[in-house]
Amino acid sequence: MVFLVLVLAIGGLAMEGVQMIMPNGTRVVVAAEDIAVDVTDATERALPEDEGELKNLLNWAISHSDPEELKRQAASGASKEAVERRQQVQECLQAIKRMQEEPTEAELMIEAIEVLRNDTSDDAAKLGALQALQILLEPIDNANDLHKLGGIEVVANLLEDNCSDAVRAGAAFALGVAASSNEPFIVELQEHGGDDVMIHFVEIAEMDDTGAAAKGLYGMSKLMDSADQRGTFYGSGGLERMQGLLANASISDRIHRKISSLFGDLAMRGEEFVEQMGKLPEKGREIVRSLTQHLSQRDWDLSERAMHALHHIASAPGAQHAFEGSDVDKRLAQLEGEAKGENAGQSDSYLSDLQALAHNTRAKIQELVGGRASQHTEDGEL
Ligand SMILES: *[C@@H]1O[C@H](CO)[C@@H](O)[C@H](O)[C@H]1NC(C)=O
Ligand SMILES: *[C@@H]1O[C@H](CO)[C@@H](O)[C@H](O)[C@H]1NC(C)=O
Ligand SMILES: *[C@@H]1O[C@H](CO)[C@@H](O)[C@H](O)[C@H]1NC(C)=O
Ligand SMILES: *[C@@H]1O[C@H](CO)[C@@H](O)[C@H](O)[C@H]1NC(C)=O
Repeated sequence: MVFLVLVLAIGGLAMEGVQMIMPNGTRVVVAAEDIAVDVTDATERALPEDEGELKNLLNWAISHSDPEELKRQAASGASKEAVERRQQVQECLQAIKRMQEEPTEAELMIEAIEVLRNDTSDDAAKLGALQALQILLEPIDNANDLHKLGGIEVVANLLEDNCSDAVRAGAAFALGVAASSNEPFIVELQEHGGDDVMIHFVEIAEMDDTGAAAKGLYGMSKLMDSADQRGTFYGSGGLERMQGLLANASISDRIHRKISSLFGDLAMRGEEFVEQMGKLPEKGREIVRSLTQHLSQRDWDLSERAMHALHHIASAPGAQHAFEGSDVDKRLAQLEGEAKGENAGQSDSYLSDLQALAHNTRAKIQELVGGRASQHTEDGEL
């Protein structure tokens, strides 16, 4: 954070001057006797505690300068360089003061939490504070400070259905950012928010507003590293509800893409997903059917995510029931042909990858259901 460093010319020699590195990186050398401004306060606060030596040297510089005398010199035509140097020192010290006045990230977090805690804050204020938190919580250290500042409960409370959809979604997003690749945070969140957090994320993912729903899905996906949270997701009917969204043609493809990725991530964790699919009314067949419906030239990104999910599902032993009566083999063959056709003559690496993915997913499913001679193409294994 300290972007302004003071380097003193020391080393047994008489001090010749103060070399200052300006915030823009420019070095400025200032003769000690030219320091004509009151720097005590600013430097005392700017210098880290353990740099007592620097403080001593600066104090020496100050005690050897006589402001009145320097002013007189300036007025009576002291050298132009001396006046310029003095101006530079002043700018430098102002920079120190400004730095001191800028709040730290912890202070900004406290401020945001206070706005969120305050009953009189309106939605606009809460959304602003949540947006600030979304940025502030990106560094893992800040995320792990949130509970120390009493912020986890405050943000988790905003997931409740007595808040507006926008606030709930903003809270889900902020918690998702903090939970991203951060196991300790997820543990804290579980401790302070309990199962309600995941249950609310599922509700937010079902919101009509696509942006809000996407935030709910984002937060949800960030919690899936935790077995407890996955347990709550499955236990509260989350899988069936997300499947409902995936199957609903009125829902935006942006949401379909996120759910396809979520299913792919969950399926990648192994048999748990297949076991949970087996508990659904159609034992997972509707999941395979919906993913298959999303295999379309119309949206390669969605097709890619759906194929990854199908590949991971097919990689789990016991998943064959989910593929019963499915036309996924036909659709994959068709999609492979479409990717090949679109790619003809341009050798686009993305389309080539999609072609290979379609091919390998098809082989994986054939291998699982054992219906046809499997064409092993393990080189393109996911
Ligand atoms: C850096 O800042 C100093 C003082 O603020 C100024 O005199 C100098 O011209 C600046 N240098 C650059 C390269 O901007
Ligand atoms: C809550 O916000 C209002 C209006 O912004 C402010 O006047 C009040 O001091 C705040 N209360 C607390 C406890 O921070
Ligand atoms: C929402 O309800 C919870 C308890 O169910 C309460 O703690 C919270 O203050 C309420 N929030 C708002 C904004 O009314
Ligand atoms: C599909 O989504 C729309 C829009 O959210 C909703 O109104 C409709 O009830 C959903 N259909 C089903 C079958 O869930």
